[in-house]
Amino acid sequence: NAGSKGGRGALIVLEGLDRSGKSSQCARLLSFLEGKGCATEGWRFPDRETSVGKMISAYLANESQLDDRTIHLLFSANRWEKRNLMESKLLGGTTLVVDRYSYSGVAFSAAKGLDIQWCKAPEVGLLAPDLVIYLDVQPEKAAERGGYGGERYERVEFQKRVAEHYHSLRDSTWKVVDGSVPMETVEEQVRELAMNCISECKEKQLTNLSW
Ligand code: TMP
Ligand code: MG
Repeated sequence: NAGSKGGRGALIVLEGLDRSGKSSQCARLLSFLEGKGCATEGWRFPDRETSVGKMISAYLANESQLDDRTIHLLFSANRWEKRNLMESKLLGGTTLVVDRYSYSGVAFSAAKGLDIQWCKAPEVGLLAPDLVIYLDVQPEKAAERGGYGGERYERVEFQKRVAEHYHSLRDSTWKVVDGSVPMETVEEQVRELAMNCISECKEKQLTNLSW
């Protein structure tokens, strides 16, 4: 069904530190695209609904302990269990707005000291995003935002290391947006990037992450 009439949907990923505003911007982008009549779904990783996702959720809430490599592979498995559905949605013409993806997987685990190549390996073969929007917020600023500190990784020193690893992952699909300006300003930039991406990727083939 690669030739579905309007072309395929776009795989748009939002990345950033905890409390960088990703979830709000995903929701705003989703309703904007729906309003345009664009077939769109909002996804997020970790997807806490699956059985793997429940293990991840318990770990993040500090209700269970797992070895660093083990939790890394669970996060990756949580993406793999969604890969087929993701592919069929995209080929069927639905655009996916995804709150976190493989870049979170690599940046957070590498921030614990795991080898970056080892971290990338299980992500190879997942679908490659058409656009990654990185919401850039200083770790100290993010920490001042409401709801911070509840989960395992929400500590400023750790988030600083995550930011450094995110930086090293930037490639040609990345657009960095200043996440510290008013929400409406961020929203406008996100919309424009997304609209361009959606029209450009219609003719482009889906590819795999090839780190
Ligand atoms: P969330 O707050 O967006 O639900 O994400 C939960 C935490 O999990 C967040 O601190 C980022 C982290 N994370 C990883 O460590 N690896 C991953 O692969 C993903 C998707 C998230
Ligand atoms: Mg969180």
